[in-house]
Amino acid sequence: MPKNLALFLGQALRNPTHVGAIAPSGLILGRLMARDLGPHSKLVVEIGPGTGSLTRAIIEAGVPQENLVLVELNEAFCKTLAKRYPRANIIHGGAQELGKHGIKGAETVVSGLPFLNFPSGLQHEILSAVFDALEPGRELVQFTYGRKPPISPQVMQNLELTWHLRGRVWANFPPASVYEFRRGG
Ligand SMILES: C[S@@+](CC[C@H](N)C(=O)[O-])C[C@H]1O[C@@H](n2cnc3c(N)ncnc32)[C@H](O)[C@@H]1O
Repeated sequence: MPKNLALFLGQALRNPTHVGAIAPSGLILGRLMARDLGPHSKLVVEIGPGTGSLTRAIIEAGVPQENLVLVELNEAFCKTLAKRYPRANIIHGGAQELGKHGIKGAETVVSGLPFLNFPSGLQHEILSAVFDALEPGRELVQFTYGRKPPISPQVMQNLELTWHLRGRVWANFPPASVYEFRRGG
């Protein structure tokens, strides 16, 4: 079994709520998540990168590692990310702490967080931090295995978030949907 897959599975068994998946995302899903990114992207933040599957697609899209901030709660995943992407900025911590780390003016936040597993208080905390870190009008790109947006309707209303379905990826295991969220109209 490839090393990253074994690490992912081991951590998923230890921390099922936080990891929230049985396998890392596939490249086709990563490419849809990274669709609008490229060498022009000045600051991209990825929250919940895990072993770096979506990160790979972001870098393949042309985003320089130096312009990428990876925010990951799991220490073992952070060590793997540091080996795979030595020039990226890696923060070992929660996405709810983006402000504490002074992250501002992000063009896009890419998220693999399992929001469906999170209580609405934590969803609210993380999304407030995400939209404070984003440039006004810019989007959070989020995937989910569910058939609906993974954020509670109450949290979306409180934070004035709107959503748009970017697409579905049947070729992923499990199949996934990609949503864009924005604050305001
Ligand atoms: C579903 S996995 C996604 C991994 C990877 N992005 C992928 O698509 O294969 C969720 C990841 O979010 C991380 N995570 C969970 N809660 C977090 C939080 N509050 N802040 C940052 N990372 C978190 C987990 O440790 C895990 O790596």
